[in-house]
Amino acid sequence: MNEKQRLEGQQVKAANSSDKKSEKDYSKYFEAVYVPPSLKDAKKRGKEEVQYHNDFTIPEEFLGMGKGRKFYIRTYGCQMNEHDTEVMAGIFLGLGYEPTDSVEDANVILLNTCAIRENAENKVFGELGHLKHLKTQNPDLLLGVCGCMSQEESVVKKILKTYNQVDMIFGTHNIHRLPNILQEAYMSKEMVVEVWSKEGDVIENLPKVRRGNIKAWVNIMYGCDKFCTYCIVPYTRGKERSRRPDDIIQEVRHLAAQGYQEITLLGQNVNAYGKDFEDMNYGLGDLMDEIRKIDIPRVRFTTSHPRDFDDHLIEVLAKGGNLVEHIHLPVQSGSTDVLKIMARKYTREQYLELVRKIKEAIPNVALSTDIIVGYPNETDEQFEETLSLYREVGFEAAYTFIYSPREGTPAAKMQDNVPMEVKKERLQRLNSLVNELSAEAMKKYKDQVVEVLVEGESKNNPDVLAGYTRRNKLVNFVAPKTAIGKVVKVKVTEAKTWSLKGEMVEEVQPVEVK
Ligand code: SAH
Ligand code: SF4
Ligand code: F3S
Repeated sequence: MNEKQRLEGQQVKAANSSDKKSEKDYSKYFEAVYVPPSLKDAKKRGKEEVQYHNDFTIPEEFLGMGKGRKFYIRTYGCQMNEHDTEVMAGIFLGLGYEPTDSVEDANVILLNTCAIRENAENKVFGELGHLKHLKTQNPDLLLGVCGCMSQEESVVKKILKTYNQVDMIFGTHNIHRLPNILQEAYMSKEMVVEVWSKEGDVIENLPKVRRGNIKAWVNIMYGCDKFCTYCIVPYTRGKERSRRPDDIIQEVRHLAAQGYQEITLLGQNVNAYGKDFEDMNYGLGDLMDEIRKIDIPRVRFTTSHPRDFDDHLIEVLAKGGNLVEHIHLPVQSGSTDVLKIMARKYTREQYLELVRKIKEAIPNVALSTDIIVGYPNETDEQFEETLSLYREVGFEAAYTFIYSPREGTPAAKMQDNVPMEVKKERLQRLNSLVNELSAEAMKKYKDQVVEVLVEGESKNNPDVLAGYTRRNKLVNFVAPKTAIGKVVKVKVTEAKTWSLKGEMVEEVQPVEVK
């Protein structure tokens, strides 16, 4: 097989069921379809040009495939996966399937998986075990695994070997191929594996069935080229490629016209938006400057990498309007030495300087972050630096994690002298600081009036409505159900650690477009 064929990939299915069990036979599938995570190979990326495809349609021969059949998708992981699920749901509907909320009722079950940490993967393997009995009850049921785990060689091998209940495995670059993969799985008694190592394409016109009609995700770019030493994403999502601004703006305008109240621009590293355009100099700041003119009340973006966060973006965000005062800015560690080993490419001081600039331009900004504790060989002093940075920035929220080694990443090869007990203790200490600062930030809202985008009934009490402020604070409050889907003013009566309680005062008029 030559390099071109290898990169383009091809669909492969196990030749017969017994193949699933024989270790030596797997190699041919991987040679054909899959390049295992390799830093060396992955870093060679970026030579081929991004191809844009605007012609996605469901092939005519597959229309009606889903007639009388139901699909169920369970989503793990980040917003990127949630949005991919919306695309797959769109394809299922296009094929004539109906959605169902119950696995028992489904004719096709997909697990859209996440590979970011070991426990994310364990959940999926556990679920595959739980679902096995459904295959015995209903032999026509198709069970599929897609998403980031499918891009890992070890996972595909493990499924081929021990999870015979799985009918299909497909990767993050193969979502648009769902009709063909389903067809193949119906025709064949064997597991269908389609995981392309090829990336670099941007496919437009994919159908989407969004969850809800208030908030919407909008992809602005795919992939990640940052290669933080602990992270699997650059391998599972491929190289950075940006959607063209016109396509994004058209999608946002369409969502605004449909009455959506909030959009979140999505990418693993949105600050690298546009860096791959060869024909123009256009970045996230430019894109946000155009999107802020669209008549949609709120615009968010995630996730930012501090390294590419430039002054132009800060300048545009400071214009406010529909650009909200909340920035999620993962720092990972407060120690310059740890940041260096993580290959984050900024120092503690540079991060603090960026925060200073952001706060100066947007004085009422709320900052949140991601932090990893227990990185290989992290010392007590280095951990203390994370705590002190957290306090110094005054983060209002954080996702905190214990480092989890991911096969194929450079960090997984590092010797680690930090015992798990110590890592757990550090996580606890960090979490109490996170709670303390969140409670402090919340307290300031007591007796204030805040703007809330009402998303629906609160989780625990249908008589109470819930929504978020511009600065991303959860508010539970009493109001008539007619407020759902609107931006309303709420007077805060009680501040808790992670949420506010209040009463609606009035509805807010739509933002004026400048
Ligand atoms: N692209 C985003 C992060 C995506 S993953 C960014 O760079 O900010 C979300 C978070 O998971 C990361 O910010 C990091 O804190 C955490 N994470 C990623 N890999 C991890 C690993 N191997 N172990 C523990 N946490 C990890
Ligand atoms: Fe992973 Fe984010 Fe780093 Fe990319 S920037 S490698 S997604 S942590
Ligand atoms: Fe997980 Fe993949 Fe997102 S690994 S965090 S689902 S990009």
